[in-house]
Amino acid sequence: MKVLVIGSGGREHALTWALSASSLADEVFAAPGNAGMAEDATCIDIGAEDLDGLHAFAKSNDVGLVVIGPEAPLVAGLADRLVDDGIKVFGPSAAAARLEGSKAFTKEVCDRTNIPTAAYGRFTDVAPALDYLQKVGAPIVVKADGLAAGKGVIMAESVKDAEIAVRDMLEGNRFGDAGAEVVIEEWLGGEEASFFALVDGETALPLISAQDHKRVGDGDSGPNTGGMGAYSPAPIVTEPLTGRIMDEVIEPTVRAMAGMGCPYKGVLYAGLMIEDGNPKLLEYNVRFGDPECQVLMMRLMSDLLPALLAVHDGGLKHMDLRWHKDAALTVVMAANGYPGAYEKGSEIKGVEAANALPGVKVFHAGTARNGGKLVATGGRVLNVTALAPTIAEAQTRAYEAVDAIDWPGGFCRRDIGWRAV
Ligand code: AMP
Ligand code: GLY
Repeated sequence: MKVLVIGSGGREHALTWALSASSLADEVFAAPGNAGMAEDATCIDIGAEDLDGLHAFAKSNDVGLVVIGPEAPLVAGLADRLVDDGIKVFGPSAAAARLEGSKAFTKEVCDRTNIPTAAYGRFTDVAPALDYLQKVGAPIVVKADGLAAGKGVIMAESVKDAEIAVRDMLEGNRFGDAGAEVVIEEWLGGEEASFFALVDGETALPLISAQDHKRVGDGDSGPNTGGMGAYSPAPIVTEPLTGRIMDEVIEPTVRAMAGMGCPYKGVLYAGLMIEDGNPKLLEYNVRFGDPECQVLMMRLMSDLLPALLAVHDGGLKHMDLRWHKDAALTVVMAANGYPGAYEKGSEIKGVEAANALPGVKVFHAGTARNGGKLVATGGRVLNVTALAPTIAEAQTRAYEAVDAIDWPGGFCRRDIGWRAV
C-alpha cells in the first residue's frame, strides 16, 4: 500500500524511515517532509495544516494509510475528514484529540475516572482565578487551556508571577483563544516520566519506555524546549510502575473516552510526575513525543505498518511488538539561539560521515537542500541517534557521530542520558 506521513520534524523522519522499511509499503510519501525524509520517501509540497490539500492528495493517490505526526492537524480534525472519506488514518479524531487540545478537558476525564493528577481549578474570568491563587498560594502552575506551541505552561514561584500569567492569558490575549480559559494547578514535586501506548479505541498496548530532556542546557538547566535529546529505556519507568500507569492512568482514560462517545485511536503519550513511586498525570499528548519517537523507532524490530493499521482497524488485541534489547539515545542539534530567535540557512556538513558510523542514524528535523548544500531551516535541526548495548555506549556513539558533523551554526547538549548512565 501507499503510505503518507504528515509533518516535517525528526519524529516524522523516524516514522518515515520505519515505514519505508515495511514489507507492506510500496511507496511512502511525506508532506511536507524535509531533506532527510526525501532520502526515505517522496516529499510532497503540502503543509501539515493544509487539510484540503492533504485530503485531496491522499484521495487522488489512493493512499492506504495516513500517519499524522503533529498535534495541530489532529486537533483541527484531519483524521475525521479522512476517515469519513474511507481513508485509513493513524491518529485520533478531533474529539479524542481534546486530550491534548484542551487541558481542562483532560482534567474532566481525570475527575470522571479518578485518575491521579494535580489539584486544580479552571477559569475564564480573572477575579475568581485570582481568588483561587490567593487561597492556594505559591508555588503554583498556570496553564493555557489550548495548544500554545509548548509555551502555555507557566511555573509561578510567587502569587504575583501567577497573577501576571493569569492576566496575560485572560486579559492580554497572550495565546489567543488557547488562553481564553486557564487551568491553575498544584505544583507537583518528583521526577518526570513519559509513557507511550498505542490505543485502538478499546485496547491499549504499552510501548517500551523513553525519556526526553526538556531544558536547553546541560544539567537540565535553562529554558524549556521541545526536547534536546532522549533515551530508551528510561530506568525510572520500571515494570511495576508500567503496570500501575496502565491500571491507574491509561486504561481508565481509554474506557472514559469510549464511554463519552469519542474512542481514542492513535498513540497516547502521558506526561507523568512520579513522586514516592506514585504516578500522577501532568498532561496528555495525542501524538508521539519528539525526540522520544526517534529512540523508539530505533529500537523497534517489528514492522511498524501493521501495528499502525491495527490501531485503525481495532486489532491491537492480537498484536505484539518486538524491540531490540539494545538501548537507543538521540542528541538534538539545534540552531544557535534556539529556543529563542535563531538564524536560518547555515550550512551543515558531515552528516554522511556521521551516518556511516556503526549503529548510528541521523534523523533530520529542520533541514532543506539549497542546491547541493544541506542547510538548517528550523530550531531543532538534526537528531543524531545511536543504538548500542547500553545507554552509556549509545551515548558515546551518538556523541562520536555529533563530532563528525561540521555545523558552526548549531549546538547540542553534551550530557543527554545523564540520569540513566
Ligand atoms: P505540560 O505541557 O502540562 O506537560 O507542562 C510542561 C512542563 O511543565 C512539564 O513537562 C513539567 O516539567 C512542567 N509541569 C507542568 N505541570 C506541572 C505541575 N503541576 N507540577 C510541576 N511541574 C509541572
Ligand atoms: N518531547 C516532548 C514532546 O514531544 O512534547
